[in-house]
Amino acid sequence: MVQRSRVAIIGAGSVGATIAFALLLQKVSSEIILVDIVEETVQGQVLDLSDADFITSTQTRGGTFQEAGQCDIIIITAGAKQKPGETRVELIARNYKILDNVIGTMKPINPHAILLLVANPVDVLTYIAQKLSGLPKNQVFGSGTFLDSARLRLKLASLIGVAENAIHCYVLGEHGDSQFIAWSSGHVGGKPLLDFPEIKAIDKDAIAKEISGKAYEIIKLKGATYFGIAGCVSMLVQCIILNQRHVRPLSTFVEEYGCVLSMPVVLGGNGVERIIEVHLSSDEKVRLQQSAKALKEICDKYIH
Ligand SMILES: NC(=O)c1ccc[n+]([C@@H]2O[C@H](COP(=O)([O-])OP(=O)(O)OC[C@H]3O[C@@H](n4cnc5c(N)ncnc54)[C@H](O)[C@@H]3O)[C@@H](O)[C@H]2O)c1
Repeated sequence: MVQRSRVAIIGAGSVGATIAFALLLQKVSSEIILVDIVEETVQGQVLDLSDADFITSTQTRGGTFQEAGQCDIIIITAGAKQKPGETRVELIARNYKILDNVIGTMKPINPHAILLLVANPVDVLTYIAQKLSGLPKNQVFGSGTFLDSARLRLKLASLIGVAENAIHCYVLGEHGDSQFIAWSSGHVGGKPLLDFPEIKAIDKDAIAKEISGKAYEIIKLKGATYFGIAGCVSMLVQCIILNQRHVRPLSTFVEEYGCVLSMPVVLGGNGVERIIEVHLSSDEKVRLQQSAKALKEICDKYIH
């Protein structure tokens, strides 16, 4: 197993810098390299982050695309920001060009590198990055619906009155408009989620809407979201560096659908080790197929 602890973050805006800060607090990476096309942004973020040097032994510095390409874990947040009211899919044309440029400039990429996509639309960009980078598919994945599932857990935990990590239930499919909650496979302590009176009583469509709409609500209020995603990405980095093999819903290539979407995967030191086949109701299967169809149509426009 490759020993990994050098992390590059491409895109030093709100999300990139907050991921860097979360990684500093976590203390599992030896070095963080920030890269951005705007040099002042990198200088400013590195200077600001250096004020937190006293809490960590992780070194943070600015670097080049070529240096980033040689790191162990390369996190891509570079992208145009989602505008209020803009869907994640509408962002694609702008972000495709950026990704093409970033990957092209990093080449030749360390063949053992893990490429972790965060920029949106994350499923489509992960698919494109798998093709453009030439890296094995298990080494190229996206943060997917990990954040949506964390939001769901928080909500369900408060409804049932248990700790968040006692909730096993995922948001699957696209990180975006066609995502859905896999209610039928959810459980708490081995008891199906749908058997809890608190869950039977709730309006499930309203919960799904609340979860998928949370990013839009935050963007409307403050222009961007970054704390939640930074928390998620730092957990993923720790999982890779420490080979923890947690099960996380991530954007991964699913052979059956020929596209990238979120399914629960086992994440270890070499990236995605396997996909966990979740039990889905017939209605949820249809939702997954619809999500896959929508994503495949977009991906096929960009990469043949
Ligand atoms: N996956 C998720 O759950 C999730 C959550 C929040 C945000 N995001 C996404 O993360 C991305 C970044 O969001 P943000 O709020 O940090 O935006 P931001 O505008 O603050 O930062 C983006 C940065 O990318 C840089 N950049 C642009 N083109 C570049 C290139 N070719 N090479 C290197 N750097 C480049 C910009 O200069 C900027 O500093 C967006 O696509 C956003 O939708 C994803």
